[in-house]
Amino acid sequence: MTDILQLKNVCVRFRIKSAMGALFDRTSPASFDAVRDASITLEEGQTLALVGESGAGKSTLALAITGLERIAEGSIQFEGREISQMQANEIREYRRGIGYMWQNAIGSLSPRMTVRSLITEPARIHRVPNVNTRELSSKLLDLVGLSEEFGDRYPHQLSGGQARRVGVARALALNPRLIVADEPTAGLDVSVQGEILNLLNQLQDELKISMLVITHNLNVVRHTSDKIAIMYLGRIVEQGDTAEIFSRPRHPYTLALLSASPSPDPDMQADRIELKGEIPSPINRPSGCEFHTRCPFVKETCSESPPPFEAVSESQALSCYFPR
Ligand SMILES: Nc1ncnc2c1ncn2[C@@H]1O[C@H](COP(=O)(O)OP(=O)(O)OP(=O)(O)O)[C@@H](O)[C@H]1O
Ligand SMILES: [Mg+2]
Repeated sequence: MTDILQLKNVCVRFRIKSAMGALFDRTSPASFDAVRDASITLEEGQTLALVGESGAGKSTLALAITGLERIAEGSIQFEGREISQMQANEIREYRRGIGYMWQNAIGSLSPRMTVRSLITEPARIHRVPNVNTRELSSKLLDLVGLSEEFGDRYPHQLSGGQARRVGVARALALNPRLIVADEPTAGLDVSVQGEILNLLNQLQDELKISMLVITHNLNVVRHTSDKIAIMYLGRIVEQGDTAEIFSRPRHPYTLALLSASPSPDPDMQADRIELKGEIPSPINRPSGCEFHTRCPFVKETCSESPPPFEAVSESQALSCYFPR
């Protein structure tokens, strides 16, 4: 199988001080990495779920993938081509190939635009010639299971689930090969969450689109993802096939995430662990394994040097000195 997306050792760095501030205050850092050394691979036609707590760097990584945030280090390849080396016309073409669903579906929709103009807006932004707005919006509404009349509505007239469908329609507007969905089910009732995930799955089957789904709730992607990447403090700490991550989570953080969103599966209840303390700041990273300050299995080695990210099977890799 070919990879549609490949990230290697990606860092996204943000400034925290002005140049003048940095000059006068040398004690605190001038920048920090919201994403550090992140490597992930997404195979064509598959769904990769990116999971981690708030502040882990998930949205930042998504923005880097869609080309909206610059990377400081590492490489991103889309369909085998390095995005940092693309010419302007290639960049436009690659951006068109990725449909992006923003976190906070309703908030990201302009309140004064109708659904029809919202879902066809990407075609205008990308100056696609000869677009028949009516036809395109009918097609998109149909794909996401909204009736034609929704075209005339405004965002405030939509339920959470309907707004999410509009977000999906917008992401589909330019026939993407990859959809990046940032928290597509956040804030929805459980039944509506299922509907949206099923919709994404069904579209993936029908249109052969690859998907990167971002969530903080591991159980949300249990039945709808092929692979899972667990993110902590901007790093990927464990990655593997979904079935393997659920049946044999090895990184203590993965275990903790599983414990935090209990599953109905009785086998999973045995190894429950609870995390202590707050998630550290990426501005002031702990030494050694950056998870050691919260890890219930911490040993002396853990705070000394960072564990390498290593494969433990053909499909599973993690960074931990004492995997479960
Ligand atoms: N434009 C920015 N400038 C400076 N810092 C930023 C910027 N965007 C994000 N950050 C910081 O980077 C870190 C990662 O943020 P990010 O939004 O990527 O996390 P997230 O995993 O998407 O969280 P959530 O689950 O809450 O959406 C946070 O510490 C955040 O404060
Ligand atoms: Mg986010």
